[in-house]
Amino acid sequence: MNDAKITARILISEDGPYVVTGHIPLAKQTISTDTDGGSEKWTKGKTYPTPEKYALCRCGQSKKKPFCDGTHAMS
Ligand code: FES
Repeated sequence: MNDAKITARILISEDGPYVVTGHIPLAKQTISTDTDGGSEKWTKGKTYPTPEKYALCRCGQSKKKPFCDGTHAMS
């Protein structure tokens, strides 16, 4: 059995961002469609540098998307 401690987690903050801890990789994903226009698969796009801890915008107002820039606290 693996005794490694899992330290990655995502905390949903009240009226704020997703706070991500544990060097969780982050990449843009796009749904590709088949010839009939139906959803077929996820395609990996741009990747982002991920420090030990980062915050992802959940309000849609950040100017640094996908990351939170604190704008949520001003509305
Ligand atoms: S959650 Fe902070 S700017 Fe969107």
